[in-house]
Amino acid sequence: RRTEWHQSIDSTMHRAAELAAEGCPAGTIVGADIQTAGQGRLGRTWHSNDGGLYFTMILRPKVEMRDLPMVTMASGVAVADALQMFAGVSVDLRWPNDVMVGERKLVGILAQWHAGAVLAGIGLNVSQSAFPDDVKNIATSLARETDRIHNKQVLLKAIAASVETHVEILETSGVTAILRLFANASSYVSGKRVKVELPGGDVVGTTAGLTPDGFLLLRKDDGEEITITAGGLRP
Ligand code: BTN
Repeated sequence: RRTEWHQSIDSTMHRAAELAAEGCPAGTIVGADIQTAGQGRLGRTWHSNDGGLYFTMILRPKVEMRDLPMVTMASGVAVADALQMFAGVSVDLRWPNDVMVGERKLVGILAQWHAGAVLAGIGLNVSQSAFPDDVKNIATSLARETDRIHNKQVLLKAIAASVETHVEILETSGVTAILRLFANASSYVSGKRVKVELPGGDVVGTTAGLTPDGFLLLRKDDGEEITITAGGLRP
């Protein structure tokens, strides 16, 4: 597979967008040791100091554009599987696509369509022992969870292979197969008390499963059931 590695880059998403537009093959990876303008979901910043694994994989899945959330969820399951196998850490999936250890985030995933390809951006905290103030209580790293420094290139290979496998599962077995894998790996899908950050304000309730499109059902305390299509979950 073609992998382009940078010591420092603004964001691997930008470089991956260029390569996708040039027609690079599926499976191409752009990675970096440091990002100076790492992007998170919902317009947030992703702190990308030395010690993390930051990469974007260019995928060309045979799915409809509207299935992007499913590619993202498949990537989450893929990362969780690879980390369990190769780093020996027990992780949880927080809908839609955070990989957690307990209440702390270990991996962030950002997927976008660009030039007919999906750019799957993955940020994994590997060897950090401390985090910037704004995330120090909500972030964790593999070093912190396993007391070991893991090899980033080994992790990269394992995760990339797992992402490809899970995209194939999505292509061949469909959305329900991915939703089943996701639900099996996540404590957030049903019966979890959560706060959801919505544009109109926070909503509190208990999760009540996924819709056939992968949206999250939330039973509010007043009994009303609502469908969450985007947004962040908080404990
Ligand atoms: C999130 O908000 O949880 C998603 C974070 C995604 C971060 C990764 S790091 C590699 C790639 N490049 C970026 O600028 N963002 C993604």
